[in-house]
Amino acid sequence: MKRYLITGGAGFIGSHLIKKLKKRKSKIFILDLKSKIFKNKKKLEGCTLIGGNISNKEIFKKINSKIDVVFHLAAKTSTAESQKRPHECKKTNINGTKNLCEWALKSKPKKIIFTSSMAVYGKISKNVNERKKLKPISVYGNTKKIGEEMLLKIKNKGIQIIILRLFNVYGPQQDFLNLKQGMLSIYLYQIFKKQIVKVTGSLNRSRDLIFIDDVINALTLRFPKNNNIIANVGTGKPTRVIELIKKIFIQLRINFKLDKIIKLREHRGDTFSSYANNNLLKSFNWTPKVTLQDGLKYTIKDLRKYH
Ligand SMILES: NC(=O)c1ccc[n+]([C@@H]2O[C@H](COP(=O)([O-])OP(=O)(O)OC[C@H]3O[C@@H](n4cnc5c(N)ncnc54)[C@H](O)[C@@H]3O)[C@@H](O)[C@H]2O)c1
Repeated sequence: MKRYLITGGAGFIGSHLIKKLKKRKSKIFILDLKSKIFKNKKKLEGCTLIGGNISNKEIFKKINSKIDVVFHLAAKTSTAESQKRPHECKKTNINGTKNLCEWALKSKPKKIIFTSSMAVYGKISKNVNERKKLKPISVYGNTKKIGEEMLLKIKNKGIQIIILRLFNVYGPQQDFLNLKQGMLSIYLYQIFKKQIVKVTGSLNRSRDLIFIDDVINALTLRFPKNNNIIANVGTGKPTRVIELIKKIFIQLRINFKLDKIIKLREHRGDTFSSYANNNLLKSFNWTPKVTLQDGLKYTIKDLRKYH
């Protein structure tokens, strides 16, 4: 039986990951904030729960079992918030990752998989591959870059390091009420509730929107042993904000009119345009399977169920 630790396991990506790992013979440990664990108790049934903050190194002492594989997901994830409250973001994303590395050096898991972000690349990253020089423009992007560097420092200590740079992930069970993170979920919720769509920045900005199941397949890929890997996780296709909004209107069968959109000033630190070069991940037999059309359909179905 494999023993998995998921930091940030009570979040959006974490809860999907749990579902997949439960299908394997596994024991799953979740380390997440107490309040988040409490809120998501039902989804976490069957897992060993450790409530606490990763920026406090003492919390790692509560992992009282040998761990084979770590998924390090816990993070402050909003770019806009990271600009407003940089200290909070640094505390979790940098100090938390440092604490995880120190724990790992003692506990020696076989593998750590880290969810980094396309934000490490910077302003414009079109068809960007993993060798591009990293020039993050947000505090969030910078903390992810530092997190990568810290993990790579321990790669030769018998721990395999897999860094996955996720592009924009969306899907069922995303926090639709969180207006600070998740371009697709924010617009979808506003249109669904027949509110005015508030777009920060240009309608011509673009994102690489990747469905949650494809991300979970990437996180759980069987990578060759002993190789440390840094790979993008994206569809390889850009979607412009305006295109996305029109698609949502169509899928919700609501008439689209430009006056249903208001434009707000863009957040500092926001990437203008980005999409992944995903050839590296494809070379490990991964391929994105869910189209935006289908992904939206599944997400809307979930939204209707709960809102
Ligand atoms: N969702 C995306 O589009 C996307 C894109 C790129 C990278 N990522 C990365 O993927 C990971 C998971 O993202 P998500 O979308 O599931 O976000 P999420 O906010 O739903 O999950 C993050 C989890 O981390 C936990 N957390 C935050 N601070 C913590 C702390 N100090 N101690 C312990 N736990 C803490 C939160 O409670 C939450 O459950 C993050 O590392 C994020 O940066 C996500």
